Amino acid sequence: MKPHTKTFSLRTVEWKNNAVVMIDQTKLPNKLVFVKYTDYKDVANAIKTLVIRGAPAIGVSGAFGLALAALQSKARTKEKLVGDLEKARKTLFETRPTAVNLAWGLDKIMKVANEINDVSEIKKSIIQTAKRMAEEDIETNMKMGKHGSALFSNNDTIMTHCNAGALATVGYGTALGVIRAAKENGKKIKVIATETRPVMQGSRLTAFELKHDGIDVSLIPDTAVGYAMSKGLVNKVIVGADRILRTGHVYNKIGTYQVAMMAKQHKIPFYVAAPLSTFDLKSDPKDVIIEQRKSTEVTQIGDRKTAPDDITVINPAFDMTPPELISGIITEAGIAKQPFEESIKKLFKSRL
Ligand code: MRU
Repeated sequence: MKPHTKTFSLRTVEWKNNAVVMIDQTKLPNKLVFVKYTDYKDVANAIKTLVIRGAPAIGVSGAFGLALAALQSKARTKEKLVGDLEKARKTLFETRPTAVNLAWGLDKIMKVANEINDVSEIKKSIIQTAKRMAEEDIETNMKMGKHGSALFSNNDTIMTHCNAGALATVGYGTALGVIRAAKENGKKIKVIATETRPVMQGSRLTAFELKHDGIDVSLIPDTAVGYAMSKGLVNKVIVGADRILRTGHVYNKIGTYQVAMMAKQHKIPFYVAAPLSTFDLKSDPKDVIIEQRKSTEVTQIGDRKTAPDDITVINPAFDMTPPELISGIITEAGIAKQPFEESIKKLFKSRL
């Protein structure tokens, strides 16, 4: 597939000369720095420390991590190689617990390893599969964009939360991919991005990539969501997702639930855009682990302390938005509508 030229031209993560190269997102928007890894443990650390983040991006990074582990392995037998890969899989899997794409990416690579017998063939095939997953991520996002852009009209102002853009995927984005597609279809679109405390993915990443692409974007503090909606500044909302259950329960960046509640109050359609790899058809809400992050994300802004010493902090990275607040879930296979359980089942069936 040809790289997209009209929109965000940077690749968030890619495989280059037997190494994984990614944008260090902790440095954005001040510096555009690329990091290169040849050890899967460094990839695991990059996922943990948010050098790379966003559900689809960490899914592909997990796969690339396993490709590095395959190259690092000195195993001469299939059994030994699969053992080395299992160890790496565990390390990569344990980095972040909520986004289901990570397990999806790791499982896909382990399946390839288990299906082939020859050690060097396994290694070759793992690298090829991981590279293909990266290409497919962009294709999937563009399909999602095609389906989703029909939901948006000329002169819409769309609110988004966190970063579900090119930077959260290999390229193009999920929620921001839909916005890009609407714009490419000739619609005049404005975006309102929430800053997304505490890690600021909205101000650091969404504002950065939309400005980079010349898309009209205004930044608001998270606390101004109600203001913006009550003043009629927003027509629609679109966000990404880290995990979607068969019932349509959506797990996404902390604060998404508040935005959805507020949208309901103001009768503003609230859409979610996510690939089928973000769906977890087996779990119930009680099974989903919400990642809790370190307290300094809340008690400091950069190096500056903004809370008293020893304060107790609750810092969940994600929350759950119930299906009744969601107008539609945009996927590469089409748009799921209420009642979600039936509609999601149909989308998966259409892929068989
Ligand atoms: O903690 P993060 O930055 O990995 O959280 C990311 C999000 O919540 C995104 O909205 C989600 O992964 C969708 S990305 C296409």
